[in-house]
Amino acid sequence: MRITIFACGYVGLVTGACLADVGHDVMCVDVDKDKVSRLKAGEIPIFEPGLERLVSDNQAAGRLSFTTDAAEAVKFGLLQFIAVGTPSDEDGSADLKHVLKVAETIGQHMDDYKIIVDKSTVPVGTAAKVERAVAIELEKRGLDLEFDVCSNPEFLKEGAAIEDFSRGSRIIVGTESERVREAMRECYGPYNRQRDKMMFMGVRSAELTKYAANALLATKISFINEVANLAEHLGAEVEEVRHGIGSDPRIGYSFIYPGCGYGGSCFPKDVRALANTAEEVGHPAHIIEAVEQVNFRQKNKLFEKLYQAFDGQLAGKTIAVWGLAFKPNTDDMREAPSRALMEALWDAGARVQAFDPEANNECRRIYGERDDLVLAEQREDTLEGAHALVICTEWKAFRTVDFSLLRKTLLEPVVVDGRNLFHPESVKAAGLAYYAIGRGDSVRPIPA
Ligand code: UDX
Repeated sequence: MRITIFACGYVGLVTGACLADVGHDVMCVDVDKDKVSRLKAGEIPIFEPGLERLVSDNQAAGRLSFTTDAAEAVKFGLLQFIAVGTPSDEDGSADLKHVLKVAETIGQHMDDYKIIVDKSTVPVGTAAKVERAVAIELEKRGLDLEFDVCSNPEFLKEGAAIEDFSRGSRIIVGTESERVREAMRECYGPYNRQRDKMMFMGVRSAELTKYAANALLATKISFINEVANLAEHLGAEVEEVRHGIGSDPRIGYSFIYPGCGYGGSCFPKDVRALANTAEEVGHPAHIIEAVEQVNFRQKNKLFEKLYQAFDGQLAGKTIAVWGLAFKPNTDDMREAPSRALMEALWDAGARVQAFDPEANNECRRIYGERDDLVLAEQREDTLEGAHALVICTEWKAFRTVDFSLLRKTLLEPVVVDGRNLFHPESVKAAGLAYYAIGRGDSVRPIPA
């Protein structure tokens, strides 16, 4: 099957490489000339385990190509995937300018039947807008060509995207057309062998499914974070509570890890966009708004804990920060809790010595050279002259720590753990104060 993918971002590249890998002929198109020439040379612009090999193997096999020529790309595929970004507008709604630009491009260059597949996360009603944008361009050209638009949301986790694409729990397609259903079955057939994962539904339902899935996952996180904050006031340990509730299969253990807030390119943006859509249709979504507010406050927790530990005297202090990425196995720092922490520390006049196994360069790109930021090559280097250690990301490499050595190195005995990695007793036994999320010294003593 011939497939065109607009653009070579995270979702586009993973989709293109995975579809080429099962034998389809895939052409990925992007407006960024530099990115396309680097991709042609086998250079992958993002960090995603397994993607580099998948791209180079399929390029070598002649099944995957990259171009900046939109006209050629539109003519190439029966399926035209739109996988461009939908960043948040100033008011929080999804910005559709890239999606609609691609729709126009398709309308300007198509000369036979096309199926346009909305892969980007787009608000309910976008497929209809894409349809209109294509139709207008066809009308300008005086052509009456047939085309369909369907919704096929992605459910890819960064760091596990290839696995999610190949073994995801569902393949959702929003369409009313039998012709589209057949084509999408053919497209995903190789990934649909073990059991039928294809779910066909209305276009609007498919669009809403993506937002509802992300909003529910974000709700679980904000919920457990709320419980953790409560536990601190009530003299309870949230990790014990997490075990207690997760054992009920209706609740389950996944996605109820308390922490310093969710980040990344999806949850924050999608939760905001859904709240915005709800507002627009005159049905404010109170739970979803609260999920966002709780997360906003949660990202400030690490700073608050440091502020308390140092009685507000943070000016001139040096803070070691382990973990910059919004989660392990990625170099992505979009909306990462580490950013809220570092920015608050800088505002308070403190210095940061940080280390991340993958995101140091990304951090340098975002913040540039500054006197109050040192990026270390190894986690131990961050501790030289540091008054406290804060952990923002639960990289595996951070799970083993020699606490007595840490006690000797830190100028003050303060550890703030945004991911609850350690047993409070083992940290405290080394003479360190251990502030975590809903546990350790964050839990206030119960008055007699
Ligand atoms: C998410 C969805 O999981 C995916 O299905 C969707 O397509 C895109 O958004 P991703 O952004 O890659 O994927 O990250 P994910 O692994 O889901 O984690 C999101 C954030 O939630 C991270 O900041 C993580 O630290 C946080 N999180 C996750 C918690 O704080 N607690 C948890 O229990 C789980």
